[in-house]
Amino acid sequence: MTELPDPAPGPGQVLVAVEAVGVNFIDTYRRGGVYPVALPSVLGSEGAGRVLALGDGVGEFAVGDLVAWKEGPGSYAEQVLVAAAELVPVPHGVDATTAAAVLLQGLTAHYLCTDTFPVTDGTWALLHAGAGGVGLLLTQMIRLRGGHVLTTTSTPEKAELSRGAGADRVVGYAEATAVARELTGGRGVDVAYDSVGRDTFDASLQALRPRGLMVLFGGSSGQVPPFDVQRLNSGGSLFLTRPTLNAYTLDRAELLQRTTELFGWVRDGRLDVRVGHTYPLDRVRQAHEDLEGRRTTGKVLLVP
Ligand SMILES: NC(=O)c1ccc[n+]([C@@H]2O[C@H](COP(=O)([O-])OP(=O)(O)OC[C@H]3O[C@@H](n4cnc5c(N)ncnc54)[C@H](OP(=O)(O)O)[C@@H]3O)[C@@H](O)[C@H]2O)c1
Repeated sequence: MTELPDPAPGPGQVLVAVEAVGVNFIDTYRRGGVYPVALPSVLGSEGAGRVLALGDGVGEFAVGDLVAWKEGPGSYAEQVLVAAAELVPVPHGVDATTAAAVLLQGLTAHYLCTDTFPVTDGTWALLHAGAGGVGLLLTQMIRLRGGHVLTTTSTPEKAELSRGAGADRVVGYAEATAVARELTGGRGVDVAYDSVGRDTFDASLQALRPRGLMVLFGGSSGQVPPFDVQRLNSGGSLFLTRPTLNAYTLDRAELLQRTTELFGWVRDGRLDVRVGHTYPLDRVRQAHEDLEGRRTTGKVLLVP
């Protein structure tokens, strides 16, 4: 922890008093060097808080507004500068804690089940880490869209949480492929949502039906090594994608459209946002160790 001068907003920037910071797996990749950052660097990208000051040319927000962001570099702080184009208004009925807890992981779950693979009535999905931040939200969204979901978790407590979010079936990682076949009459699932990566990639491919879609969207267990594309052939003309949230919030209209739907589900009670762990800012090291050590469920937050 260190004291820095209060930042002043430049053109197109907004200064925000941070009320809650979202901790995401990507913060650990940046800290560890999987995604290199220029040093010295303040970690964090997600949060929510009140507008303190506006830079030139910012017309959309006013001092005192409650706002949230998924892409505000240096968000592990009491005050942060965020580009106005990245800020979203938080509607009445959603508080700062919930907004910081749902924005990044909720938008991720949203694009995965609406666009990467549009889940519809009767879709069968395999989803790893069902009790994680993205996992609990994506499970609920798959069910909202009429799909079925088989999840994996590592403990009975996590399995219980995943069932509570609506998972049709929860199993340990070793059983995922066999149970995916059993649940689909031998055919395989339509889509595998895999954020665990290195440890689960093979099993996810094997769980797919012919022409099924493998969605590799993270590497919580490590990055997947180089891949022989012939395996898509032998698996039955499979598809593979490695999506990122930024490519599904390409412009402000897309960001606001997804956010409006997401906050709407939160406000009308259709989406339950579970904050599993809250740490003061000076315990950030513990927060990262717990997230990487599989000791968390739902969302991890820091409070300045
Ligand atoms: N591409 C995108 O757009 C995007 C956006 C957001 C997040 N993500 C990715 O989605 C994943 C989930 O993010 P999150 O913040 O919601 O984290 P999380 O799922 O809450 O935490 C990771 C979970 O992965 C499971 N896991 C399995 N093997 C693991 C291992 N060897 N080490 C650590 N964890 C392991 C653990 O659950 P069990 O103990 O139950 O196994 C752990 O709790 C991350 O990989 C992240 O990078 C991608």
